[in-house]
Amino acid sequence: MDCYDTKLLDYTIENARFCAELIKNGEVVGIPTETVYGLGGNALCEKTVEKIFKAKGRPSDNPLIVHIYDVFQAEKIAKNISPLFYKLAEKFWPGPLTMIVEKKDIIPYTTSGGLETVGLRVPSHPIARKIIELSELPIAAPSGNISGKPSPTSAGDMLYDMNGKIPAIIDGGACEVGLESTVITFENDGVRILRPGKISAENLSQICPVFVDDAVINKIEENTNVSSPGMKYKHYSPEAKVILIDANFNDFCSFAKQEKDEKTFFVLSDNECENADFNTISYGKNYDEFAKNLFSILRELDKREAKIAYFQLPNKCGVGLAIYNRLIRAAGYEVKKPH
Ligand code: TXA
Ligand code: MG
Repeated sequence: MDCYDTKLLDYTIENARFCAELIKNGEVVGIPTETVYGLGGNALCEKTVEKIFKAKGRPSDNPLIVHIYDVFQAEKIAKNISPLFYKLAEKFWPGPLTMIVEKKDIIPYTTSGGLETVGLRVPSHPIARKIIELSELPIAAPSGNISGKPSPTSAGDMLYDMNGKIPAIIDGGACEVGLESTVITFENDGVRILRPGKISAENLSQICPVFVDDAVINKIEENTNVSSPGMKYKHYSPEAKVILIDANFNDFCSFAKQEKDEKTFFVLSDNECENADFNTISYGKNYDEFAKNLFSILRELDKREAKIAYFQLPNKCGVGLAIYNRLIRAAGYEVKKPH
C-alpha cells in the first residue's frame, strides 16, 4: 500500500478543489458528512474502490454507498427507479437516508460488492456536496474507520485510523448526526430498514409502510442470508467490553455502586452523571445528543484504557432504534439484568 503523509486540511474552497482533484486522479480522501466522516473516491473506478477496501481492511463483499449531488445524478446510476424513491428523495434528501436501487452497468461490481444493486445517498453536508460537485463524479464512501471500529465523527478520529493510508482529510468539525445513514430497500409498496439512523421508522412511515429487518434488532446466525452484507460483520467495537444493562436508573445506580472500579465506566445522561460516586461518561442531554456522541464515547473509552463500559439499554423509539442497533453490536448482543 502507498504510504502517505496524510494532511489534515481546513475547509476552504481551495482545499475542497484540491480534494476534488485528488478524487479525479483516482485517490481516496477523508470527507466530512452530516452523519460520519467518509473515505471517498470515484465510485466508477475499480482501482480506486479497491484502494478504499484496502485502507479500511473491509471484506470485498460488503458494498459501498455511492454519494451523489441530486436525483438527476441518481438516474445516471440506477434503473427501474420507483415513484416511491422520488417521493422519499423529495422529503429526505439531501440528508442521512441511503436508498438501495438496481444499478446500471456504469457502477462496477467492486463498488456494489458483487450485487446488482447500489445504495445511493445525497448528503446534506456542504463540504461533501462541494466535493461531489467539483469532482463531477459519484463518490463511493464508506465510513472512514478501520473495519470493525467505531465510525469517525471528527477529523481527528479519522486521522487516527487512516494516518499514512490516504493523502488528505478535510476537517469539517464534529458531525451533526453522529450515526451513519438510515439504509432502506424497497419492498412491496413500502420500505424495509436494513440499518436504522436519524431518519427513523416513524419518519418514513409518514410516507409509506415500513418494515424493520430482523437483523436490525437481533443477532444473525452465521451463514444466514442477509439483505445487507454489513449486518453480518462485527462492528463498533472498542477495546473495552461494552455491556448493556436492562434496568431503570435507580437499579442501574445500585448496580454501578457494586461494580465500580477504576477502569469501569458508566455512560449516563448529563443530569444522571451529577453526584454519581462512580466513573461516569455523559452522553449528553437527550437521544439526539447520545447519537451524536456515541462513537466518540466508544473511542474515548479506549483512550482512558477502560476495561468495561456499562450502558443502560436504550428504548427503541425514533433515533433510539439506531442507538440500540449500534450498542447491541458493540456489546456482542449481550444484555444483562442487574443482580
Ligand atoms: O452515513 C453513512 O451512510 C456513511 C457516510 C460516509 O455517508 N457511510 C457508511 O458507509 O456508513 P458504510 O460502507 O460504512 O456502510 C454502508 C452499509 C453497509 O452496512 C452495507 O452493507 C450497506 O450499507 N449497503 C451498501 N450498499 C448496499 C446494497 N447494495 N445492498 C445492501 N446493503 C448495502
Ligand atoms: Mg461503516
